[in-house]
Amino acid sequence: MIKKEPIVFDYNNMMADYIGECQGFDDKDISSNQSLAKKAFEEVKANRGQGMMGWTELPTNQKEVVADIIATAKQVRKNFDSFVVLGIGGSALGPMALFQALCHLHHNELPKSKRKAPKFYVEDNVDPERMAALLDVIDVKKTMFNVITKSGSTSETMTQYLIIADILKKALGKDFASHVIATTSETKGNLIKIAKQEGFKTFFIPDGVGGRFSELCPVGLLPAAVLGIDVKAFLEGAKFMDKRCKNANATKNPALMAALLQFLAMKNGKNISVMMPYADSLKLMADWYAQLWGESLGKAVDLDGKKVYVGQTPVKALGVTDQHSQVQLYTEGPFDKVITLISVENYRKEVKIADGCEDIPAVNFLCGHTMNELITAECNATEYALTRSEKLNNRIIMPEVNAFTCGQLMFFFMLQTAYTGALLHIDTFNQPGVEEGKNATYALLGRAGYEEKAKELNAKKAKTEKYII
Ligand code: PA5
Repeated sequence: MIKKEPIVFDYNNMMADYIGECQGFDDKDISSNQSLAKKAFEEVKANRGQGMMGWTELPTNQKEVVADIIATAKQVRKNFDSFVVLGIGGSALGPMALFQALCHLHHNELPKSKRKAPKFYVEDNVDPERMAALLDVIDVKKTMFNVITKSGSTSETMTQYLIIADILKKALGKDFASHVIATTSETKGNLIKIAKQEGFKTFFIPDGVGGRFSELCPVGLLPAAVLGIDVKAFLEGAKFMDKRCKNANATKNPALMAALLQFLAMKNGKNISVMMPYADSLKLMADWYAQLWGESLGKAVDLDGKKVYVGQTPVKALGVTDQHSQVQLYTEGPFDKVITLISVENYRKEVKIADGCEDIPAVNFLCGHTMNELITAECNATEYALTRSEKLNNRIIMPEVNAFTCGQLMFFFMLQTAYTGALLHIDTFNQPGVEEGKNATYALLGRAGYEEKAKELNAKKAKTEKYII
């Protein structure tokens, strides 16, 4: 039974009372910017469900889709040993994050009887060694491939697909189509054409749902359901967070407050957003957040076409691992970061620290405690050290990592991103920088229609040997 408790946003250590006047904000800063926050809130509210904000409605508008996903997942679980996602960026990071959060941390190594779901792999690259390694460990005849691409034309995903389709055709002949599920746009791109031609089972990514906002649609829900994750509880969590964020007053709307504080911090030169969960299960949540935050807010121009070059560089960290790697920098380095800690109140397992060092008090103090107590103490200690060094930090508290709290967490970050984009007066939902790279790749590989881009690339100044040593 999933515990349906709220996640909590604690921003004490963003405030002058706790962090000191030099870096922190006070109630006046919040109240004097309340009208800006309200404007951002109203803008997001007015655009809900429209344009590229179709994702706001996903917690409630997918009843039939969810039923189809659950039925399809049941068949996949019954008939296949492995489930492979072919996709990249927003079509891969969400499924990976939820898999790590909600499945056994060594899922693929568990025996089938304990795993109760197919082995799970996400390609998310075009590294030939990675593809070769995947093919070494799966039996394609017992594998379902879920090819996910909103645009239906991303080179990386189509490359993965072409390789797998060829192998499947050779191994299975006509039956190959029953090993592919396509998740893509219903109307645009090449994958839908291929899916129709080959007769693949398809799920659709709604028009108003961009890659990094797609975890709540079939992009995320199908892989999750195949893994046995309660997708209804996941959506319910998102809906719950949405309801908590319906207030135009930032002090009563956690995502709006989180957005306002980051916005004010950015104005004070905090160009880096560190995401540091204290849970291995949430490590890839920081990867998913990094794309959401970086790709949505890193923009050259604002909505009026003015050059603004805004954005905050997301940094992924893991507690406690990175205490022994990056925390020295966070604590003593420049005042250029906001550090978000994610702590977990109740880990799903408790591990006792064994006795055995009675003669050495400096080790013996650990005995009798649990790893749960240790990781919690270390999170509190890092928070203390950061605060003592006047480094802006805040904390998201997860009562437990489960489908309901993960739904809340992901929706919280999506709303926070949308509000921050509105505060920055930018287009949160486009990605011209990514498109530029995609187009250059098409040109370099000779795709028809990209001849001008190819000319542009060929005309670029040749590198000199002088600077290559
Ligand atoms: O957020 C985005 O839109 C991008 O990161 C995309 O998810 C990524 O480029 C993959 O695109 P597609 O799903 O069209 O293959």
